[in-house]
Amino acid sequence: MSDVKEVLGSYSTDITKTIEDELSTIVPDNLAEASVYLTKAGGKMLRPALTLITAEAVGGNRESALKSAAAIELIHTFSLIHDDIMDDDDMRRGMPSVHKVWGEDVAILAGDTLFSKAFEIIIGTEGTTSDQNNQALATVADACVKICEGQASDMGFEDRFDVTEDEYMEMIFKKTGALIAAATKAGAIMGGASQEVIDAMYEYGRLIGLAFQIQDDYLDIASDEETLGKPIGSDIGKGKMTIIAINGLSSAGDDSEKLLEILKDDNNSQEDIDLAVEILTKCGAIEYARTLALKSVDEAKEVLEILPDSSSKQVLADIADFVLERHS
Ligand code: IPE
Ligand code: IPE
Ligand code: MG
Ligand code: MG
Ligand code: MG
Repeated sequence: MSDVKEVLGSYSTDITKTIEDELSTIVPDNLAEASVYLTKAGGKMLRPALTLITAEAVGGNRESALKSAAAIELIHTFSLIHDDIMDDDDMRRGMPSVHKVWGEDVAILAGDTLFSKAFEIIIGTEGTTSDQNNQALATVADACVKICEGQASDMGFEDRFDVTEDEYMEMIFKKTGALIAAATKAGAIMGGASQEVIDAMYEYGRLIGLAFQIQDDYLDIASDEETLGKPIGSDIGKGKMTIIAINGLSSAGDDSEKLLEILKDDNNSQEDIDLAVEILTKCGAIEYARTLALKSVDEAKEVLEILPDSSSKQVLADIADFVLERHS
């Protein structure tokens, strides 16, 4: 199995350069700095790497998908900046969040700038047909609408404690799965795949995207701030309806009342959060979430059967496993 972190990292230089070039003309200085800040901080580059690897796995070349890949990372970055405002989180990629450094006004504008640049960059793609570029544009636009819908549900669920597993799955597909699915779909489109393969690659992205968010919810409980680069316990503190919380509320028996009390409270102490984690572990909610995520990863790997064998296909299979093995 390939070292996925290393593989993702190997795509990072090209993506970062493309993004920095694209953002180099922004004025005034504070907006320019706020816009490029998280790219400089350095993320995992999962989504753009998926776009490039998928383009190769369907028989195309990496170059043709580079601009779409950068555009997708820009959309991801925009969503992180706005997400940290909505979640009131102070840390991102091991650095103070954009709104903590420049204030909410500039952070909103930086997000909007990245969002707009993403579309500009796809329109400027050379070496592919205008039909391919249009399809990539439509794919990214569709993901953006879904991100907003998913984020609206995520926020709405903070005041509801009767969210069902189906509602949660729909919400995480939209807020997280849709962009990962768009990343693999755009790679397939720019790589010149048939419609059947394009659809399959969307499905692969959707499935690993679901597992990715379930793992993100798990890491919010199980990781530490230094490893994760963002605050721990943030979801419990805000009463987020993660699959772990949803399952815990229905399976914690006598402890579920206490769990509900902690989730409803906006001013939990560290002891309260620790107690919630203890309850969630004891009742099997964490284990349940893992099983659900594993099922998604297995299904994603089955979808890859449509591709001819290649080293890129193997990397896609390894990425599916990595989604649940990652610690950050
Ligand atoms: C974080 O995504 C936001 C979610 C959708 C859970 P990543 O974990 O991919 O963040 P970076 O890009 O590596 O910082
Ligand atoms: C992130 O969900 C979804 C988007 C950024 C669209 P989270 O709110 O769980 O992401 P993190 O944990 O802050 O990265
Ligand atoms: Mg968040
Ligand atoms: Mg959020
Ligand atoms: Mg999270």
